[in-house]
Amino acid sequence: MCGIVGYVGRAPVVEALLDALGRLEYRGYDSAGVAVLNSQGLEVRKRVGKIRELAATLRRRPITGHLGVGHSRWATHGEPTERNAHPHVDCTGKLAVVHNGIIENYGPLKERLIAKGHKFASQTDTEVIVHLVEEFAKRHPIPEAFRLALKELRGSYAVCLIAEQDAKRLFGAKNGSPLIVGIGQHESFFASDVPAILSRTRRVVYLNDLEVVELTAEGPKLTTLEGKPVRRNPTTVDWDITAARKGGYPHFMLKEIHEQPEAIEQTLFNRLDPAKGRIVFDRRSKRFLDGLSPSEQFIIIACGTAYHAGLVGEYMLEELARVPVDVDLASEFRYRGASLNRHTTVIAVTQSGETADTLAGIRLAKAQGAKVLAVCNVMGSSIAREADAVLYTHAGPEIAVASTKAYTSQVTALALLTLYLAKQRRHVPPAQWRKLVDGLASLPRLIDQALASEPAVKAIAAKYAAARNFYYLGRRYNFPSALEGALKLKEVCPVIHAEGYAAGEMKHGPISLIRKGWPVVFVATASPVYEKVISNIEEVRARKGECIVIASEGDAAIKRHADSLITVPRTEEFLSPVVVAVPLQLFAYYVADANGADIDQPPNLAKSVTVE
Ligand code: G6P
Repeated sequence: MCGIVGYVGRAPVVEALLDALGRLEYRGYDSAGVAVLNSQGLEVRKRVGKIRELAATLRRRPITGHLGVGHSRWATHGEPTERNAHPHVDCTGKLAVVHNGIIENYGPLKERLIAKGHKFASQTDTEVIVHLVEEFAKRHPIPEAFRLALKELRGSYAVCLIAEQDAKRLFGAKNGSPLIVGIGQHESFFASDVPAILSRTRRVVYLNDLEVVELTAEGPKLTTLEGKPVRRNPTTVDWDITAARKGGYPHFMLKEIHEQPEAIEQTLFNRLDPAKGRIVFDRRSKRFLDGLSPSEQFIIIACGTAYHAGLVGEYMLEELARVPVDVDLASEFRYRGASLNRHTTVIAVTQSGETADTLAGIRLAKAQGAKVLAVCNVMGSSIAREADAVLYTHAGPEIAVASTKAYTSQVTALALLTLYLAKQRRHVPPAQWRKLVDGLASLPRLIDQALASEPAVKAIAAKYAAARNFYYLGRRYNFPSALEGALKLKEVCPVIHAEGYAAGEMKHGPISLIRKGWPVVFVATASPVYEKVISNIEEVRARKGECIVIASEGDAAIKRHADSLITVPRTEEFLSPVVVAVPLQLFAYYVADANGADIDQPPNLAKSVTVE
């Protein structure tokens, strides 16, 4: 996943591709490459690292030409290495593709192609596409071979192809992942995002799923997968470059909040098989988990938002998998002198995989003979490399400093881990198991539904935007939600003090401050402690505090307890923090926006804290 670009025209192709790739740099990536067709045939250059490093390689070993494709890769399947970087070429070295998305059936396709004698060079799912085209091209012209190959793919793709056999044009297609065509003056572009091409043209053709494009310098020819012509007029982009980068959202944070259904789908992809009621992990993680002792002690370590995901994990693992779990802030774990041994598994939860305290924590754990499992978003990061096994969250690059989609995908990954261990240890009766698995499978849809609360949350945020102190209260699985809701608000709106508490602790301190108009956000979704949360709400209201209540859909009785009410779809309780996170994030976002805060880059905060 990350940036796709393609160019055909009169300009030097390498410059055009590097310029377009550079304009997608803000999305994050770990390697990049280009493939160009010229009189020598197909030439490819790839580099791990930044675009400027690829540019340096291209200065040392230049390629000339007027037609090519480029890609910046953010590793999801396969480590960030030069081999795994795109473009990928076929066995003959005459075809090259770049791809975003996931080919779900790449396993069987790869086996079939290997049986026919194809040699694979990378660990990626992408490479099957180019070998498939090669296979069909033995009997069909390239446009037909491309369409036949696409018909074999299951999953999502935005893909561009260049072929020595058909060297005057580029080919592209999409299904699920974005791909656009840019039309300039005697030059045309492919791009996964508008900002890549905005400096050269504003005339754009947006492709629909399952459409195929043949692209020359004079423009695109669109067809269906069956080869039937499709007519589509170009539209003119009126966004400026900053708006375009954010996909039309005013901030990355809001964009990333909206990306959560897709992010969670990626976390679950290939791991949850609801039909068979199975959780499947990659071989290394499976070996790791299957090798744990029945009396294994788990310690989750993390910082910031990831720590809150870890707290949710504690509730899940203890209740459903019945394993003993401690959760530590990594900065405390390092110095508390915990005694670990070979029956201890330290689970490091981290978006970046680079947080200094978490990294130091896993090193300390390993030095004491403990094992390390990472729940991490960035492939090839330090923590991912040093851990014994990694459950990648696959949430995609997160750019806003305040973590949103990384958090919900961490909780989802911990839910997968919990169900895996619960099944392994036979702790859940079959009827309950079905409910848990179905609940997990429906999460992307439920998050989508939770996003529908946005207008209501925005209105409530406007009502409380002038407040300067907030409490957030919850119990059980939603005690961490209260902590995370408060953290989100104080991160993105630095003029506000917000504090999260376990609702049962309210009487031990926070209640002393409650007075007329003091806003308290309650998470009161369906749970065994629902009545107790209602009592806490009434205690706040008795002191004239204002209760903003997040409750489950269909809870008619809650209305009379709430000054402002936000509803979220019903879920299994262990998954409720994921659904509840959505209005909490939106609330923080809109309160901050109303206060004119610098939402994506709040003062004094960093996305990745690599110093102690
Ligand atoms: C920083 C970020 C937070 C993040 C925390 C842990 O404080 O601003 O959003 O939760 O670091 O980062 P990690 O990459 O380890 O999840």
